[in-house]
Amino acid sequence: MNDSKLQLGLSFDDVLLVPHYSDIPSRKDISLRAQFSRRITLNIPIVSANMDTVTESGMAVALARAGGIGVIHRFLSIDEQVREVKKVKRSENIIIEDPVTIHKEATLKEAYVVMKAQGVSSLLVTSKNNMLEGILTARDVRFKTDMSARVSDLMTPRERLWVGKKGISQTGAMRIIDQHKIEKLPIVSGKRLVGLMTASDFIKIREHASAAKDKSGKLIVGAAVGVKDGLERAEALVKAGVNALVIDIAHGHHARSIELLRALKRKFKHTDVVAGNVVTVRAVSDLIRAGADAIKVGIGPGAACSTRIVAGAGVPQITAVMECSEAARKHKIPVIADGGIKNSGDVAKAIGAGASSVMIGNLFSGSFESPGEYYIEDGGAYKMYRGLASRDASIDRSVREGSGERENRTPEGVGYRVTYKGEVKRIVQNLVDGLQSGMSYSGARTISEFWKKAEFVRITEAGMKESVPRSSQQ
Ligand code: XMP
Repeated sequence: MNDSKLQLGLSFDDVLLVPHYSDIPSRKDISLRAQFSRRITLNIPIVSANMDTVTESGMAVALARAGGIGVIHRFLSIDEQVREVKKVKRSENIIIEDPVTIHKEATLKEAYVVMKAQGVSSLLVTSKNNMLEGILTARDVRFKTDMSARVSDLMTPRERLWVGKKGISQTGAMRIIDQHKIEKLPIVSGKRLVGLMTASDFIKIREHASAAKDKSGKLIVGAAVGVKDGLERAEALVKAGVNALVIDIAHGHHARSIELLRALKRKFKHTDVVAGNVVTVRAVSDLIRAGADAIKVGIGPGAACSTRIVAGAGVPQITAVMECSEAARKHKIPVIADGGIKNSGDVAKAIGAGASSVMIGNLFSGSFESPGEYYIEDGGAYKMYRGLASRDASIDRSVREGSGERENRTPEGVGYRVTYKGEVKRIVQNLVDGLQSGMSYSGARTISEFWKKAEFVRITEAGMKESVPRSSQQ
């Protein structure tokens, strides 16, 4: 045992940010732009955790619309996870490049089947070689009862449609949609259908002006992969347009995790790979050497984690974030502080300690967008939250995979109900407000300025007690 430099490990509740002189007139003057990974920039430094009670497409869409990013968990079949990624990618478009179509000779019954399967309320009607023939909308069919009627007899034909030419600008398309009070604008090259622009997409774009998007205007999304089928899963996810792959391994400073990271980096040159979870400088440098585009820091701080109790391993999160961020910054690789965030003050502390973003599980579980429905119990509304290494999660996985095999290891996570909290955007907004306030107390206008200016004071238990509003102690 080497205890010659037995180090002190500090966590969120052990520290406070020391207020500094500030001349920032208002929170609006504070920018929260931050790197999620080497090539991905966020408008707010907030990430939803790759947990099966936290992030599927609904959560990922909400986070990206707010300016952050969601990471779709991996406890789905590859096809299911790909579908979740595609849902995020389709949720907001400048132009839909592959609109849902139906052949003009099809019947109304067939049209309904396609509409239901694709979740759309209208279809573009085409003939051979994708020639645009018309559009079939809910309005065209609302009083029709003959299911064998031909689509060509029901549709609004091409000659009565407004169309845009391939290459039309967003403003140009918006003008046509506005002037003619239409919902959909098919985009054509000659007579051939090449895309679709819609009024509802333009409205969404306007409503979510600070959304985090990729170059083609689609919301960004990450997805988790594990050691077992990491390469095969990653291949399908990258094909579906995922922006970042996140290696989901409890002990990221492990030969198998580094092996997977290297393989992913070799194969997918244009997709950022986030590696973790780790808590030491040595681990950070090993992962960066293996090609990591971001490092996820945190072992055991999470609200559903029992790793520290079961295995006795981990490092308190503020110390872990401070040390890992300092090491990673030398290589310009961002750190994601993962786990243990209980309130907006913790977000400010994690970012002030050097993280570029924070990953959140518990605080977002129980929201409208977290997977699953809420249920009523004991007079309240609840959803479930559980650790990925909890017994419940492991049983569900074995049932889903049909393997009947259960991991026989002692669980390193727990599960419990959390109060239903409604839409996640309100929770995100509270975190953003608190972070901006924390930065303002430090006199920092940007996150990189915050890293330089943030100064921490260590507090005692009495200091912590003093920090909590008194009524909540009674
Ligand atoms: P919060 O506190 O935001 O933390 O809920 C979310 C993070 O917790 C980690 N996680 C686990 N850690 N056992 C653990 O030791 C588990 O079963 C477990 N499940 C999730 C994970 O890093 C997540 O992002």
